Amino acid sequence: MLEREVLLVLGAAGGVGVSAVQIGKVCGAVVIAVARGPEKLQYLQSIGADHVIDSSKDNIIESAKFFLKARGLKGVDVLYDPVGGKLTQDSLKLLKWGAHILVIGFASGDVPIIRANVALVKAHLAFAALRDRKAVGKVMIVMDASVKSRL
Ligand SMILES: NC(=O)c1ccc[n+]([C@@H]2O[C@H](COP(=O)([O-])OP(=O)(O)OC[C@H]3O[C@@H](n4cnc5c(N)ncnc54)[C@H](OP(=O)(O)O)[C@@H]3O)[C@@H](O)[C@H]2O)c1
Repeated sequence: MLEREVLLVLGAAGGVGVSAVQIGKVCGAVVIAVARGPEKLQYLQSIGADHVIDSSKDNIIESAKFFLKARGLKGVDVLYDPVGGKLTQDSLKLLKWGAHILVIGFASGDVPIIRANVALVKAHLAFAALRDRKAVGKVMIVMDASVKSRL
């Protein structure tokens, strides 16, 4: 996590979520924290979250976009996801180019499906090369980060 990068934490008031918010702040990230209920949001603000979203009543896409725009930020760099389900699906729409998704757990009980069209426009590494005109045409995604992508 780099300074000024945007970290979106789902289930932010839960066990692993709170640690993610705190680590994000220590690293200098802009932290968006998602939880349900005013007490949790208040707590998350008290530990430094820059923006809090109540997923039981707010539209997380609209709320996050509003915040990002107001701060002049383009999107989320890192999604920290211990929840899964619809929250994940919605959060994918907030990711920017080259974003990282940390799949931590599935507290909602729903393992999310990341649809290929999202990968097509958002995926890390290989597609960034296309965007930068370093490659034209076919892309092979190599899941092992230690192996160089072959374009
Ligand atoms: N990968 C790893 O190394 C690792 C390590 C520890 C834990 N985990 C996994 O990470 C997940 C979270 O662990 P945790 O210890 O943070 O649990 P936790 O303290 O129970 O927190 C989970 C949070 O998820 C949120 N949530 C959203 N939708 C939910 C739903 N439908 N049902 C239940 N919770 C929901 C809840 O927050 P709101 O009510 O505010 O939405 C809750 O605070 C678990 O799946 C756990 O197995 C993974």
